[in-house]
Amino acid sequence: MFVRRIVVVGTGYVGLTTGACLASLGHRVVCADVDPDKVKRLIRGEVDILEPGLPELVAEGLASGRLSFVLGAAAAMTDPAGAPEVVFLCVPTPMGVGGVADLAAVESVVDECRDLLPEGCVVVNKSTVPVGTAQRTAELLGRDDVAVVSNPEFLREGTAVYDFLNPDRIVVGCDKQDAAERVAALYARLGAPTVLTDAESAELVKYAANCFLAMKLSYVNAVAELCERLGANINDVTEGIGYDHRIGQAFLTPGPGWGGSCLPKDTAAMLQVADAADFEFRLLRATIDTNTRQRQRMVDKIRLAVTGKRTGSLSKVRLGLLGLTFKAGTDDLRDSPALAVAALLRQAGAELYAYDPAMTPTASRPELGLVTLVDDPYEAARDAQGLVVLTEWPDFRTLDWVRMAEVVAEPIVVDTRNLLDPDVLRRAGFDWTGVGKKP
Ligand code: UGA
Repeated sequence: MFVRRIVVVGTGYVGLTTGACLASLGHRVVCADVDPDKVKRLIRGEVDILEPGLPELVAEGLASGRLSFVLGAAAAMTDPAGAPEVVFLCVPTPMGVGGVADLAAVESVVDECRDLLPEGCVVVNKSTVPVGTAQRTAELLGRDDVAVVSNPEFLREGTAVYDFLNPDRIVVGCDKQDAAERVAALYARLGAPTVLTDAESAELVKYAANCFLAMKLSYVNAVAELCERLGANINDVTEGIGYDHRIGQAFLTPGPGWGGSCLPKDTAAMLQVADAADFEFRLLRATIDTNTRQRQRMVDKIRLAVTGKRTGSLSKVRLGLLGLTFKAGTDDLRDSPALAVAALLRQAGAELYAYDPAMTPTASRPELGLVTLVDDPYEAARDAQGLVVLTEWPDFRTLDWVRMAEVVAEPIVVDTRNLLDPDVLRRAGFDWTGVGKKP
């Protein structure tokens, strides 16, 4: 195997995972970030994102000398480790005005590095970017001797290290075949199927994959609603359709709607890409609308369960919320459906006490202003007129539900993730409502 000298710009969950995993595959990796405190912490081996396996890989990389951290992309280019052969861009591409991805961070790195990139080096875009960005980056760069390659990532937060080291596929797009092959070779040890294509197709693969996943979830959430109306059970329906290998069992769990830092951003951006190409992507619009509606549907469900009426008032009703992050296994609150539901409940006048295993009550995040954060699930439940499970943390399953029943004001649980065992809850005296189940 060829050991490459690699620079990774950006140490978010994608950049840091990419850097640490490439180092674990034997490459020599220098990671750069613009945040001096973060760089200092990383040099000491402190990882401040919740990503299983990542602290261990970072420690291993630092100890072996194959992984290092520097402040700023320019410093990474001139690191004593030697000139980079491959530079990964893993900087944020947040949702900008009208759902268009904001490429300011990509552009600023290109400006900073333009004159420092050695001849023949390859710039790889790992950030999720609109189709045409590789081309635009190449133009901005203005260097014929440096190829720009699109190599989208498919990492899930919370399982990023596992996903990196066990990929379903590697996608590499570039019009220059040798540059694409060089990037693909970095992953050779992983033995994954590799799609070598042009940059535009590679960029589209990422959007098309995330939009498909979002569509699958909106579809399941819509079928779950139908199940409730028809008296069917969504678990059995999804199990029944999931055995069809063309459909698969994954991504069929209904919930309060999909969220996180990726699916909402990428569906909005894809819609924008379609609009700009004069294509009315109705299926995708319906996917997004179904998701927005799903959050309100959860509030309607809670209202009915707690007040006994579809139009009952939630004003001054005390609710205990279990889970705030956008999914279990992460401390990420970005575009969390749990917070979206909390915001709607707050608007309706409810008083919210929330517990999340990844949040401490001292967490000073502005998004948490909606709720009173407590550090114990039984505290969240105290005097609650209803409990709502919003994130699928496995720990909630093994709570002492008899004790929970003793502290609540009313034994009512709305389980928007179908996480809990309804029999255990009912035995403890709770009235349990799930999603896509018989009332
Ligand atoms: C997603 C994709 O799954 C990754 O492949 C992709 O690389 C990543 O976006 C990205 O673009 O960087 P992630 O946002 O970490 O990963 O989270 P997912 O596990 O996909 O969950 C997304 C949302 O769907 C969460 O709100 C989750 O609770 C929800 N979900 C997922 C369900 O409601 N039901 C399911 O069965 C699965």
